[in-house]
Amino acid sequence: MTAVETPESEYDPFEEFNRNQGIGLVEDPYPMFAESRAKSPLLQEDVRAMAGLDDSAESDALAAELPTVFTAYTFDAVKTILGDGEIFSSAGYAEVMGQVMGHTILEMDEPEHHTYRALVQQAFSRKVMERWEAETVPQIVDEYIDQFEDRGSAELVRELTFPFPVEVIARLLGLPKADLPQFHRWAVELISVGFDMERGLAASASLRDYFAAILTERRAAPAEDLMSVLSQVELDGQRLTDDEIFAFLRLLLPAGAETTYRSSSNLLYGLLTNPDQLDAVRNDKALWPQAIEEGLRWEPPLLTIMRTATRDTVVEGVDVPKGSVMIVNMGSANHDGKYWEHPDQFDIFRGPRQHLAFAFGPHMCLGMHLARMETRVVLDRIFSRLPNLRLDLSAEPQPAISGMTFRAPTALPVLFG
Ligand code: HEM
Repeated sequence: MTAVETPESEYDPFEEFNRNQGIGLVEDPYPMFAESRAKSPLLQEDVRAMAGLDDSAESDALAAELPTVFTAYTFDAVKTILGDGEIFSSAGYAEVMGQVMGHTILEMDEPEHHTYRALVQQAFSRKVMERWEAETVPQIVDEYIDQFEDRGSAELVRELTFPFPVEVIARLLGLPKADLPQFHRWAVELISVGFDMERGLAASASLRDYFAAILTERRAAPAEDLMSVLSQVELDGQRLTDDEIFAFLRLLLPAGAETTYRSSSNLLYGLLTNPDQLDAVRNDKALWPQAIEEGLRWEPPLLTIMRTATRDTVVEGVDVPKGSVMIVNMGSANHDGKYWEHPDQFDIFRGPRQHLAFAFGPHMCLGMHLARMETRVVLDRIFSRLPNLRLDLSAEPQPAISGMTFRAPTALPVLFG
């Protein structure tokens, strides 16, 4: 049954999205990535097979229209592609994501991208971030922990890591708490556009109307929230248009919530399934930054992103014709044996080395400091309030990380106290 055919009352956008991302299906793609890396840094995909075409003459005609597609698997190939925004354009996102989000920073090339990024990043200044870390984010995490602290057990994904990042974004925007469930639902429906265009477009329109009303209020009476800041930022006399603000806000939901929920879940999974490392981190706050980076390296929440070659070029010795679609596999890059020993193991004690979970180059994640801060706050509140936190080994089934584009554990049953 497709998402559209599911009766509305039974439709759960989170389940539907997870199912379509291979959550619960693909448990460990890393051996497969290792095989691909061993063959070539950059592998040409069989586009006929990808498009499901047979050997008929009709299919031949269709195949001739398809672009060449490559997947970049090694760290060096991924870094080269992401580092060069001129040869490898992001404009391809406009085709699908652009339809529901509007013209976002994600699909912009230079020089437009640079100007826009300089404007929006004013809303994420160090000062603002420090205030969020001191007040807003711990308060949100504490409110979720309040709900289960007395129970001695919890399912940390449903009860904490899944709901809290979207609430962080909502609070940063200054949205009323009562709007949260609806807001989260629109957010997930929006990024379901790849398999359910109708629902994605409807969510996009709803979000636009919702944001428009709030933006009008904030223009009349600016406050300290992100929406007010975005309505006022200025660079060389240039301001963001309403449509640019709506596009950015729509992007913020999937970019900021879907990723952070998964990265914090993956880190907790890594720690809970390695109790010696959990103990070390619990007892020494100085280890938190390296634990957070290892979680991101080991199981990045988002495995692949896309680029398009704007001219004929060569990557790691492989000829890439103009117009080629590049699938950039950051998950594979983070497991490249050239740079990490035993790359499939979670080990917070390995030496520091740049990973690519936040991408690289001009589009490197704008929210990475916020994501790291949110994870730090989760560790802080969990360790302060849930003593002797451990995996509930009697839970069936035991949790596992799965997924092919987005990856996370579906559940984290824990005991404490
Ligand atoms: C662990 C959590 C996160 C991960 C792994 C992550 C990953 C990424 C990646 C891989 C990109 C590059 C996409 C591309 O070029 O195709 C990106 C861009 C972006 N991220 Fe994040 N992200 C995370 C959290 C956040 C948060 C919390 C925010 C909210 C502020 C955010 C906002 C953005 C924005 C606005 C961009 C577009 C930047 C640009 O195009 O210049 N991200 N992120």
